[in-house]
Amino acid sequence: MKTILDACCGSKMFWFDNNNQNVLFMDNRSHFEQLESGHVINVNPDVVADFRNMPFEDDSFHLVVFDPPHLLRAGPKSWLIKKYGKLNPETWQEDIGKGFKECMRVLKSNGTLIFKWNEDQISLKDILATTEFKPLFGNKRSKTHWLVFMKNESEG
Ligand SMILES: C[S@@+](CC[C@H](N)C(=O)[O-])C[C@H]1O[C@@H](n2cnc3c(N)ncnc32)[C@H](O)[C@@H]1O
Repeated sequence: MKTILDACCGSKMFWFDNNNQNVLFMDNRSHFEQLESGHVINVNPDVVADFRNMPFEDDSFHLVVFDPPHLLRAGPKSWLIKKYGKLNPETWQEDIGKGFKECMRVLKSNGTLIFKWNEDQISLKDILATTEFKPLFGNKRSKTHWLVFMKNESEG
């Protein structure tokens, strides 16, 4: 049984061991491409699914990491978008809110959620306004945030 869920793993760039057997890697696409710029996109999840509606039972994982796309706009040829995906400008608040709900639902009680966010186009304040869950701590002065949440008995 996998104890950790990476809910939108992309190319697994932040993992020291991207073959860690304790981790279930999920993304909503499988895709391989070598770009002219030299960037490699290698999205090869264990499970192809949507973070807004995850195919897992409640209380399944001890740790969930949630690193959704953080860009709303970029040039049509942007390698960043190809590699990291893009939010829907019409629905991103609802989409991210559903993602948080699902992460908490599949977490075990007292489990930990790590949320990664880059403030390039959407502020931390605005992204946190999409959910009722409150982070415990994170590197508040940085532009890229790693926030820690814990699931409580009373939640989800
Ligand atoms: C910021 S990237 C993740 C980067 C990854 N953590 C890494 O270390 O390389 C976001 C990923 O979320 C995926 N994604 C976008 N919408 C999704 C959805 N609704 N459900 C699951 N994954 C989604 C994208 O395909 C993209 O690979």
